[in-house]
Amino acid sequence: MKATPPLPSLPRPSVPLLSYVTSTIGRKTLVAITGLMLFGFVIMHLAGNLLIYQGPAALNEYAAFLKSKPAVVWAGRIGLLGALSVHLWGTLSLAARNRSARPVGYRMRRTIVSTLSSRTMVLTGFTILAFVVYHLLHFTVGVTHPDHHALVEATATGTRHDVFAMVVAGFREPVVASIYIVAQVMLAVHLSHGVASTVQTLGFNHPTFTPLVKRGGITVAVLLALGNGSIPIAVLAGWIGGNA
Ligand code: HEM
Repeated sequence: MKATPPLPSLPRPSVPLLSYVTSTIGRKTLVAITGLMLFGFVIMHLAGNLLIYQGPAALNEYAAFLKSKPAVVWAGRIGLLGALSVHLWGTLSLAARNRSARPVGYRMRRTIVSTLSSRTMVLTGFTILAFVVYHLLHFTVGVTHPDHHALVEATATGTRHDVFAMVVAGFREPVVASIYIVAQVMLAVHLSHGVASTVQTLGFNHPTFTPLVKRGGITVAVLLALGNGSIPIAVLAGWIGGNA
C-alpha cells in the first residue's frame, strides 16, 4: 500500500501557546470551541425569539430588559465577535493548508468526499455570515428598513422600542421572510456538519455516546431551524400579528 505523503509542517514559533495555535490540531480545537460558543448563542437567541409567540408584551419586555444591561450586552457582543473572528480565521487557514497539501492517487475518493463536506461548510458559513450582516443592519442598526426600526409602543412611563411590531413588519415582506427561511436551512446544514467535526476534533470517542452526541447535535440544529424558521412563516400566515 502506498504511504500517505506527510502534510507540510507549519512554522513553529518558540512560544508554546503560539506553537499550539499554529499547529493543525490547535487551530481545529479553536474552531471547535468557538463554534460551540456560537452554537450556544444561537440556542439562547432562539429562546428569546420564541417569546414572540407570547405576544408583544413578552418580547418587548425582554428586549427592554436587555437594553437596560448595556455592560452585559457589550461583553456578549465582544465575546461573539471574538469567537466569530477566531472561527473564521481558523477555518480559512485550515482550508488553505488542506488545499496546498491535497493528497493524490488512491486517496482521491476520500479527498473528494472531504472536499465536498468542507465546501458545504464554507458555502453555508459564508451564507450565514452574509445573513448575520443583513440581520444586524435590519433589526439592530435599522439601516435596511428604518421605518420598521423606528416603531415604538406606549408604556406607562413613556415609549419603548416595539421589537414585536418591527419583526412582524419585516416578515410581512415575502422577500425578507424568504431570506430568513433560507438562512435557517443553511444554519441547520452548517451546524449538523459542525457538530460531527467538533466531536471528532475534541477527541470524544465512545462507541455508544459519540453517535448519540452527533445525533443529538443534528436534532438540536434541526430544531433551531424549525424554531427560527417558524417565525417568518407564522407572520406570513397571519398567525403572529394578524393579517395586514
Ligand atoms: C427568525 C429568526 C430570527 C429572529 C426573529 C431574530 C430576531 C432578532 C432581533 C429582534 C434582534 C435585535 C433586537 C434589538 O436590537 O432590539 C436580533 C439581534 C441579533 N440576532 Fe437575531 N433573530 C433571528 C435569527 C438569528 C440567527 C439565526 C442568528 C445567527 C446566526 C442571529 C443573530 C443575531 C445577532 C448576532 C444579533 C445582535 C445581538 C446584539 O444586539 O448584540 N439571529 N435578532
